Amino acid sequence: MGQKETEINGGNLFFTDVGSGAAVMLVHGFPLTHQMWDNQIAELSTKNRVICPDLPGFGRSETSRSVLGMDIWADHLADLLNVLEIEKVVFVGLSMGGYIGWEFARRHRDRLSGLVACNTRAIKDTEQIARGRKMVAASVVVTGAKPVADSMIPKLVGPDADKSVSESIRKMILATDPESIAKGHLAMAGREDARQWLSQIDVPTLLIGGDQDQITPADEMESDSEMLPNSRFECISSAGHMTPMEQPTKFNPLIKDFLVELSGSS
Ligand code: MLT
Repeated sequence: MGQKETEINGGNLFFTDVGSGAAVMLVHGFPLTHQMWDNQIAELSTKNRVICPDLPGFGRSETSRSVLGMDIWADHLADLLNVLEIEKVVFVGLSMGGYIGWEFARRHRDRLSGLVACNTRAIKDTEQIARGRKMVAASVVVTGAKPVADSMIPKLVGPDADKSVSESIRKMILATDPESIAKGHLAMAGREDARQWLSQIDVPTLLIGGDQDQITPADEMESDSEMLPNSRFECISSAGHMTPMEQPTKFNPLIKDFLVELSGSS
């Protein structure tokens, strides 16, 4: 299905590129791959061009030799748009993908026609969370990815999710290079507090949360939404942190309606 590779910043970057029309970029969470969007790619690509990358170090994209950061990833994704000659995109990011989305909005505002922030937050890590990430970063390179999968999956997935969701998340995590898990945690621990620039994100923005999300609670997302000048918040019922995987039949219509609204306003 439209699987491609290009070279970005000296490493290969894998992505799917399917459909035609206004471009939408789906950016995965941590430590996952483009496959978390399998329930969206086919459906959205009936009316839109859907670009769905594996971030460097994840899935089929090469492990980055350098330090990672939300800003660096945002720049890589802007470079990908340059390679594809796409001027503007609707950026859809889940959790870590959403942290990258805030940076993309700050650094590449002119490339953005809309932003969808799923199960994510604007505030940076507390000291305690950052410390925990540093501990995992130090241990994962010794233990491998299994303990990370074991501890993360119960938090990522809500109690109503189909078992197949946890199974596919487990596969993605176990296939991830422990070095990338370590670098990803360090990158998230060092990210900036995006609340500083939320009020400047003037593109239409949709925030989507899940009522069973333990990692980014819905009420926190609603507060972030209030800081954005042109946004609304939608909460999906019976969904944990992985709303696009857990509740695609509720998630997809929200995205499709947003894309229709954007096409009417352009
Ligand atoms: C994610 O889903 O991307 C992670 O839970 C984000 C995080 O660890 O903050």
